[in-house]
Amino acid sequence: MDIKVIGVIGAGTMGNGIAQVFAQAGFTVRLVDVAQPMLDRAHTTIQKSLAKFVEKGKLAAADRDAALQRLSFTTALDQLADADYIVEAIVENADAKRTLFAQLDQMTRPETILASNTSSISITTIGAATKRPDKVLGMHFMNPVPLMSLVELIRGQATSDASMQAASSLCAAIGKTGVEAADYPGFIANRILLPMLNEAFYAVMEGVGTPEAIDAVMKGGMNHPMGPLTLADLIGLDVCLAILNVLHDGLGDPKYRPCPLLKRMVAAGYLGRKSGRGFYVYA
Ligand SMILES: NC(=O)c1ccc[n+]([C@@H]2O[C@H](COP(=O)([O-])OP(=O)(O)OC[C@H]3O[C@@H](n4cnc5c(N)ncnc54)[C@H](O)[C@@H]3O)[C@@H](O)[C@H]2O)c1
Repeated sequence: MDIKVIGVIGAGTMGNGIAQVFAQAGFTVRLVDVAQPMLDRAHTTIQKSLAKFVEKGKLAAADRDAALQRLSFTTALDQLADADYIVEAIVENADAKRTLFAQLDQMTRPETILASNTSSISITTIGAATKRPDKVLGMHFMNPVPLMSLVELIRGQATSDASMQAASSLCAAIGKTGVEAADYPGFIANRILLPMLNEAFYAVMEGVGTPEAIDAVMKGGMNHPMGPLTLADLIGLDVCLAILNVLHDGLGDPKYRPCPLLKRMVAAGYLGRKSGRGFYVYA
């Protein structure tokens, strides 16, 4: 299949990065969000990110301008009717994703592949909301998208080899490496990462160490590029909680129980970097 037009739905932390990397690689990209302010913010974020690449000599100014030309921003989902391939990056909520996929199934061409950037929700369940589960897969980008080379590709129960192959080729086209994972809660990345972040939340709650001390131990002692609490703030504490809930519900083991401190922070609106406050305070 000749893929030229990419639809990206959700212009938050992930969606704007996903739209940027496809536009940089020469695809026409339509970024959709229900909230106009999120689209405006995404536009600014993408401009700043591309400007940094230009400053560092990694992107020519003309290529930056061309990438921006290929991007459009809209609140109208029907602008994706002619998309060849769609990546959904809306809230981490199974009902919201299933409703959206059922809508996309109605309004797009039957051959269009529908990918979800979900961190943990079952691709099989999302695919079952459509009449084309063979063309539904997980394309799990890492944050920040323009800098991270990995994309986890999740094969749902009914996902076809052709759809997996198309996603893998797209990863190569945008300069990323696709690695296949099976459709179990959290896939590979978050099945392993989130229990570690959760343990760090418990360590803060129990006073084992301050966020600064915990991050310093994991950076200096384990050679992690970023401490777990800094990383959780970057991911978004609401997203962390949603993933832990999926792991806990889907795998049933109490070891995945989300830390009560995390729940309390999310209830207070302390979502990390995006809300200006999480384990750290951001200006
Ligand atoms: N944050 C991370 O580090 C990270 C990493 C990998 C994957 N993910 C996954 O990516 C997805 C998006 O996460 P995020 O952190 O970018 O979230 P976010 O909260 O930053 O952004 C979500 C965006 O989706 C929009 N939205 C909500 N419902 C919508 C709908 N029906 N149609 C169109 N737009 C809608 C919201 O207005 C918001 O702009 C989630 O599934 C999350 O699990 C997140």
